[in-house]
Amino acid sequence: MALLDKHKILETNATLLLVFSFLVVTVGGIVEIAPLFYLDNTIEDVEGVRPYSPLELTGRDIYIREGCYVCHSQMIRPMRDEVERYGHYSLAAESKYDHPFQWGSKRTGPDLARVGGRYSDEWHVDHLIDPQSVVPESVMPKYGFLLDRPIEATYVGELMATHRMVGVPYTDEMLEAAAADFAAQADPDSDYDGLIERYGESAQVRNFDGQAALTEMDALVAYLQVLGTMVDFSTFQPDESR
Ligand code: HEC
Repeated sequence: MALLDKHKILETNATLLLVFSFLVVTVGGIVEIAPLFYLDNTIEDVEGVRPYSPLELTGRDIYIREGCYVCHSQMIRPMRDEVERYGHYSLAAESKYDHPFQWGSKRTGPDLARVGGRYSDEWHVDHLIDPQSVVPESVMPKYGFLLDRPIEATYVGELMATHRMVGVPYTDEMLEAAAADFAAQADPDSDYDGLIERYGESAQVRNFDGQAALTEMDALVAYLQVLGTMVDFSTFQPDESR
């Protein structure tokens, strides 16, 4: 066929081939990505999703620093085996305040999108100190040193302000109370009413690592325990009306 013969021109001219490959990839990319900005389920607001509290946000930074995402994803796909193992599939809205998102592409360990509330704080601390003591065949490294690393609220306000710059709706009040909320969340004897008022009931107040000092372990466990708990899936209905 005459048209197919013309293909030879492309195949024998590297520059032309590059230009056409680029065009094909561009069109394919637009076709795949553009609809996401208009599909309801990718832009739907979901009740309960809120910005991370100062302590959780700090824990999230530790999660990223330690490379937990290298082995753990945070995105449950809508396939039956995943939903049965991990719970309701992840909604786009659940990671809308995650900068950068932690979906991940590698599961050496299980998905953590809904690990919050699945284990006790003690379990997490024991597991992070020595994963093999809880799961003998585990290949997860030990993170016990987090217990010896105290944290302070010095920069947490700035951290939140940075997240606000990329669209997380932290209010001025949240920024002003950052240091107080940070400490209050890990101290059940504190006055944490303000924290709950600002972040809602899904902000859990406990001494997460069981030690007097406020450490990186507190922050990391606070973060793990909130994962997947913001949306109440016993009442959640996907919004199909729009
Ligand atoms: C080298 C890969 C690797 C890295 C890095 C890693 N993990 Fe794991 N993780 C695993 C494996 C494998 C398991 C499953 C066995 C187990 O429970 O230890 C696991 C299990 C877990 C579990 C239990 C999940 C469940 O549903 O049972 C949690 C929570 C967890 N990891 C948190 C973390 C955190 C937090 C970090 C970073 C500080 C981290 N992991 C880093 C491999 C890893």
